[in-house]
Amino acid sequence: MSEFIQIERRGAVQVIRLNRPEKKNAITRDMYAAMAGALIEGDGDDTVRCHVMLGVPGIFSAGNDMGDFMAVATGQEGGNEVFDFLLALAQAKKPIVSGADGIAVGIGTTIHLHCDLTFATPQTQFHTPFVDLGLVPEAGSSLIAPQSLGAQRAFALLAMGEKLPAEEAQAAGLIYKVVDAGALENAVFEAAERLAAKPPQALSIARDLIRGPRDAVVERIKQEGEHFKARLKSDEARQAFMAFLSRSQKK
Ligand code: COA
Repeated sequence: MSEFIQIERRGAVQVIRLNRPEKKNAITRDMYAAMAGALIEGDGDDTVRCHVMLGVPGIFSAGNDMGDFMAVATGQEGGNEVFDFLLALAQAKKPIVSGADGIAVGIGTTIHLHCDLTFATPQTQFHTPFVDLGLVPEAGSSLIAPQSLGAQRAFALLAMGEKLPAEEAQAAGLIYKVVDAGALENAVFEAAERLAAKPPQALSIARDLIRGPRDAVVERIKQEGEHFKARLKSDEARQAFMAFLSRSQKK
């Protein structure tokens, strides 16, 4: 478990909150494990009808913890926590509603591709600088994003590292709605509670039909994961991580 992931229940809604603001909600291995555990447990609990994923004001997540990336880049064993989380997310049995305010980088963006409804504030920017970091898209994003955004917008986001502001993300179909910061959590909880009150079997079938079979997504997550693991050990990636981490030390 992780002190930086808060799991709460609001009636039939399970809330998974990233809460490591001093590091912009960068996600460590323990945090991935805690989120995977919550998704799996919530899926297996009949009293949970909907998952919610949130960050804190101004920060959804700055993506994978750079120190963890660097550890793998310099030869340490990476563990399966990220992969286990991605599988739990991609194969979640219950609807997921997410809310993002401000920073949404890397997996802080790609998580939302697996959510059924995402609300974001006007100041939110979705950003996946994978290639700039010597890495490749992950979380099945190379499959899902072209389907939902179109090939060119997906390329701009995932390969060129263009930042996608919330309004554009909504127009592109990456997210459901833009709402003011003060209204974000209410909008998320209201949607989650509405979903939680629906006939669960009918909702589950509807959701499966809309999302389509998960096999292809899981297969893509595996393919991306193989490349990602190799890229983490590349000179390009090591240099990018070093640049970020030494920038932090200089401050
Ligand atoms: N991993 C580890 N630590 C991170 C982090 C990450 N992904 N993102 C931010 N942090 C840490 C910073 O090192 C800093 O720590 P310090 O106070 O101990 O020096 C703290 O969070 C605040 O970050 P800072 O960069 O000062 O905040 P900012 O508001 O100027 O910038 C970001 C915010 C998100 C733009 C910037 O932190 C960033 O680019 N982070 C990396 C994002 C990224 O590339 N993620 C991987 C995607 S695959």
